[in-house]
Amino acid sequence: MSEATTASPAETLALGRHLAALLGAGDVVLLAGRLGAGKTLFAAGIGEGLGVEEQLTSPSFILARAHEGLLPVIHADVYRLGTSAEFEDLDLPEQAREGVLLIEWGDVVAHGVPEDHLLVEIEITADESRRFRFVPSGKWEGKDLGGLTQ
Ligand SMILES: Nc1ncnc2c1ncn2[C@@H]1O[C@H](COP(=O)(O)OP(=O)(O)OP(=O)(O)O)[C@@H](O)[C@H]1O
Ligand SMILES: [Mg+2]
Repeated sequence: MSEATTASPAETLALGRHLAALLGAGDVVLLAGRLGAGKTLFAAGIGEGLGVEEQLTSPSFILARAHEGLLPVIHADVYRLGTSAEFEDLDLPEQAREGVLLIEWGDVVAHGVPEDHLLVEIEITADESRRFRFVPSGKWEGKDLGGLTQ
């Protein structure tokens, strides 16, 4: 398992930009961690790395928002989602087939996304740094995430 620590919001953005370099069409990234862990900030870094011009912000009330970058980026937050059937109805993996799908609270819907996905678990440490754990699934298991670890 790969891990990284970021000591500031700027470092979290930079880590997101680094992950973006590994992403291509059809990739799914699930973001997990409690309220305020840094899921949105990390997603914003991925958005920057993928050339999205506007800042990715919390998509809370609309569930998912589409952005245009080098690839289309769909940024979802399933915190307020009622049921897994509701998630399946959204059909996000299909909608993001030609781009990248980022899902906050994504661990909750892991069973409803393709097996090929990267789970990123973010933990707030005692000194307010953020500990990132990259948990690969499917094709991600073979990928070298060495560049992301610190
Ligand atoms: N090292 C760090 N990495 C990320 N965020 C940090 C860090 N240190 C402090 N913060 C702060 O923590 C907050 C993270 O907020 P963010 O909205 O990204 O979290 P979130 O996990 O998306 O929350 P929510 O569950 O509400 O969607 C920001 O206010 C940010 O400035
Ligand atoms: Mg958020």
